[in-house]
Amino acid sequence: MTATHEQGFFTEEDSISVVTGRNAGAKDARLQFAMEVITRKLHEAVKEIEPTQEEWFEMIQFLTRTGHLCNDWRQEFILLSDVLGVSMLVDAINNRKPSGASESTVLGPFHVADAPELPMGANICLDHKGEDMLVSGRILDTAGKPIANAVIDVWQANDEGFYDVQQQGIQPDFNLRGVFRTGADGRYWFRAVKPKFYPIPDDGTVGKLLAALGRHPYRPAHLHYIIKADGYETLTTHIFDPDDPYIGSDAVFGVKASLLAEFKRNGDAARAAELEFASPFWDVEHDFVLARA
Ligand code: BEZ
Ligand code: FE
Repeated sequence: MTATHEQGFFTEEDSISVVTGRNAGAKDARLQFAMEVITRKLHEAVKEIEPTQEEWFEMIQFLTRTGHLCNDWRQEFILLSDVLGVSMLVDAINNRKPSGASESTVLGPFHVADAPELPMGANICLDHKGEDMLVSGRILDTAGKPIANAVIDVWQANDEGFYDVQQQGIQPDFNLRGVFRTGADGRYWFRAVKPKFYPIPDDGTVGKLLAALGRHPYRPAHLHYIIKADGYETLTTHIFDPDDPYIGSDAVFGVKASLLAEFKRNGDAARAAELEFASPFWDVEHDFVLARA
């Protein structure tokens, strides 16, 4: 006699094979594979959790509200992927670097594509609010050789934890953003202010989920970088302040040990005067190593 699931009928025991079997005619093998894995893991989760009908509907409503929050400026599903650690996992899988190369981390939603290219050493803090900070270092290859003509796109939050795009009309446009290009020595340097920790957008479904899980929404203070050079893999990364109170509990899991920079207090008054800084100032030196393409 033909078993129920072989007739294509649904049973609790054979739920996975019944559903995945229905996808046998998929035209895209990769889609078929992904749906086989997702169906299997999802059914296993449902079987383990055994949700009530009410709980399942609550889940559907959570996803519905998450979708409704998405528009041209806000992507609540990416935020959900971030707090579940999935964004960092996809980043890790796609950015396995050779030994010695700098590690990547999440891009985040606050990059803007058209930040101005600035002369090396420029001050990217346009409103002079915050504690002066010098950032410098070298762009190197894995053999330790300087990379000329590397393009460094940098952006950061201000000393209150806001990006310019979150405070239009309050911060100048392109505040705390800039694009720099290295010379033959591979060196880069620019002036800025010390960034502060900030919450990821937490007024939506993701914020409510974090609160329900007893989690805070904060990211430790960091600077974002995208570094590009011909013949090398593009590096999307951050450097972090290791003394930040949230360094061990980043809401989106973006921190890696190799991305902790040293934020030193520099009391050299003559150097401060040269930089048009108050003394003492923050001094951050960090090299980046690019992997060959
Ligand atoms: C950011 O660092 O800009 C960021 C990353 C993920 C989610 C929200 C913000
Ligand atoms: Fe950020």
